[in-house]
Amino acid sequence: MIRRREGCRTVTTGPCTVKDGRPRIPPPRACPQPTTPGLMHMADILVLYYSRHGATAELARQVVRGVESIAGATARLRTVPEVSPVSAATQDAIPDQGPPYATHEELRDCDGLVLGSPTRFGNMAAPLKYFLDGTSALWLNGALDRKPAGVFTSTSTMHGGQESTLLSMMLPLLHHGMYLVGLPYTAEALVRTRSGGTPYGASHVSGRDKAPQLSEDERDLARLLGRRVAELARRLPEGARADG
Ligand SMILES: Cc1cc2nc3c(=O)[nH]c(=O)nc-3n(C[C@H](O)[C@H](O)[C@H](O)COP(=O)(O)O)c2cc1C
Repeated sequence: MIRRREGCRTVTTGPCTVKDGRPRIPPPRACPQPTTPGLMHMADILVLYYSRHGATAELARQVVRGVESIAGATARLRTVPEVSPVSAATQDAIPDQGPPYATHEELRDCDGLVLGSPTRFGNMAAPLKYFLDGTSALWLNGALDRKPAGVFTSTSTMHGGQESTLLSMMLPLLHHGMYLVGLPYTAEALVRTRSGGTPYGASHVSGRDKAPQLSEDERDLARLLGRRVAELARRLPEGARADG
């Protein structure tokens, strides 16, 4: 079964087929569930990140705090495995430490997504890209369509490509039909910051520091990003998860 948004409601249709490499989504066959305007529902926000040395992980923890400062919103912190030099090789299903690895089902079922990666040559890191490249079934089904999303990153240098990484992280999310959430200049921290924090998403400049220490502004902006995604998820019509 496929669940997708139509206008302000989620409809259930039959199985999706692929012809000539294009998804063919059949018309709705179940009665659509109307959404009461103005009614807010619980929001489950997936905070999904990759971090090698802990800086992006620290941003993720602040995003979680922001999400959880919104009544009715809960955060689910998840990471992704390393990519092996032999890509067919697998890792243990549960990491030795830190949050569990995300599943595609968790991505499908979330009401909003905040995605974080260290910058690697001005782009997101391979483990996160690898996870996203595996989401074509969700794309075919429109599973993430009209869900809010935000992005965050960490670089070692101030001008080492934060914006390019954040923007490139948005591309697959746009293909999935997600509503992208940034940070506004009405936030004092964004005007004041002398390190990370951009209108495109939260960020941190780690330098050579091995023990990640966010500045106050970086921390506040990471929390604000979590809050904004959670707030929007609460306000948008009930997500795909709701009609089972
Ligand atoms: C392969 C590789 C490429 C990197 N590319 C960049 C880069 O383009 N710009 C930059 O400022 N830092 C770059 N870095 C540094 C990391 O982005 C930076 O140390 C980041 O804070 C690490 O985040 P983490 O602690 O979450 O792993 C790179 C690091 C690696 C290993």
